[in-house]
Amino acid sequence: MRVCVIGTGYVGLVTGACLAHIGHDVVGVDNNAAKVAQMQAGISPIVEPGLEAIMAGAMQAQRLAFTTDIGAGVRHGEVIFIAVGTPALPSGESDTRAVEAVARAIGIHLDGSYKVIVNKSTVPIGSGDWVRMLVSENAAPNVDFDVVSNPEFLREGSAVFDTFNPDRIVLGGSGRRAVALMKKLYEPITQRQVAAEAALPPVPVVVTDLASAEMIKYAANAFLATKISFINEVANICDRVGADVQQVALGMGLDSRIGGKFLQAGLGWGGSCFPKDVAALVHTACDYGYEAKLLAAAVAVNRSQRYLAIEKLRQALGILKGKTIGLLGLTFKPDTDDLRDAPALALAAECRRLGARVKAYDPTVRPERPPAGLEAGVADCPESLAAGCDALVLVTEWAEFRTLDYAGLARSMARALIVDGRNFLDPQILAAAGFTYVGIGKPG
Ligand code: NAD
Ligand code: UGA
Repeated sequence: MRVCVIGTGYVGLVTGACLAHIGHDVVGVDNNAAKVAQMQAGISPIVEPGLEAIMAGAMQAQRLAFTTDIGAGVRHGEVIFIAVGTPALPSGESDTRAVEAVARAIGIHLDGSYKVIVNKSTVPIGSGDWVRMLVSENAAPNVDFDVVSNPEFLREGSAVFDTFNPDRIVLGGSGRRAVALMKKLYEPITQRQVAAEAALPPVPVVVTDLASAEMIKYAANAFLATKISFINEVANICDRVGADVQQVALGMGLDSRIGGKFLQAGLGWGGSCFPKDVAALVHTACDYGYEAKLLAAAVAVNRSQRYLAIEKLRQALGILKGKTIGLLGLTFKPDTDDLRDAPALALAAECRRLGARVKAYDPTVRPERPPAGLEAGVADCPESLAAGCDALVLVTEWAEFRTLDYAGLARSMARALIVDGRNFLDPQILAAAGFTYVGIGKPG
């Protein structure tokens, strides 16, 4: 099928490349000309395992192209995905201006042939109807199209795997023709033709009305974020009573009603989606006269969890003014270069506010291109990060942090203290290397 994906960021580029990989003819549209030029040269503008290989294969087969020309993209696609960003406004409300601009542009360029317009951006409940209205208002009379909500559940760092191995596909909309086309589009995926395990049963397709599909996306993210806040709260109680949250999570998670995933205690959830999506759902609830108390509590727990490392540093170092703190990891999770709402940046800002010097090392952040607030503070290797530090804080669990020469790092530090903010390292190995090890929700 001919597909157009508008907005080729973390979601749109992965979706477009994976749909091209399974045989569709895809055009990706973005209004960032520099990004488009990079993708046209076969270079992924984002760090995402496996993505460039998928892009290369699809581009070689001439099934994947990129353009800044939205009109060309709209004319090309029988199925047109909207995958632009919907960041949070200061009020917590979702900023839907990019979706709005794209919906208008689609309307202007509709050419009369039947199109399915698919909303993949995470948008406030009710947006599907509003996209339909914006398209109609800008289109010629009697154009033939349907709007479908098809929320995305991929995780950064495993986005290609998740696209080929989804737990479910959600399709919201009333147009039977549109839903049938979408089922056909996803058939190679739902029938497990590209899955890691071909023997698995077909991927469930959940067909709902528009509003329910939009709500499923928010509810799923809010539930996962709340699950993490729950285990972080349990970790904080463990800290006080001498229990080990990792053993507790294992024992809880084996209950099939609970499940073991998303029970890793740490320095809180970040990234481009959980914070903004939970805030947007709280805001929507409030707009409709309901106070979302449980979600507000999950946000509050997360806010204080981000600064838990400061408490642990204070307990070990006393006054932080004048101390040098080294952060291992900056991205909000490993295997991505995404720094949006990264817990490490909040932690760095608070350390600085307290008068500490902050340095950081991250495999995806180059010293010459530091994020705002860490100017001159990005090291080019873990060794130069550790030298002279009073403490290290592991904020992002990059695999390479498991095998560092910790004895060598300890020797180069002013004081060999490590706060393992993701319970990622082996306390015994760190102790043998000469470190005082502090975990989250673990007896000291
Ligand atoms: P992103 O910021 O990485 O990408 C958005 C892209 O859209 C950018 O490349 C930008 O240049 C482009 N764009 C903006 N306005 C445009 C316009 N008018 N015309 C053409 N291109 C335009 O965002 P993302 O992380 O891919 O997220 C996209 C949507 O998907 C959001 O609603 C997000 O909540 C949702 N989502 C994201 C993830 C994730 O893991 N990042 C997962 C599920 C859902
Ligand atoms: C999350 C969801 O998992 C995806 O299903 C969803 O599509 C996406 O948001 C979205 O809507 O954008 P993502 O943010 O990429 O995906 O990454 P996650 O693996 O969910 O991690 C999010 C944050 O939670 C990270 O900061 C991570 O460190 C933290 N986390 C995760 C924990 O602290 N503990 C856990 O057990 C799991």
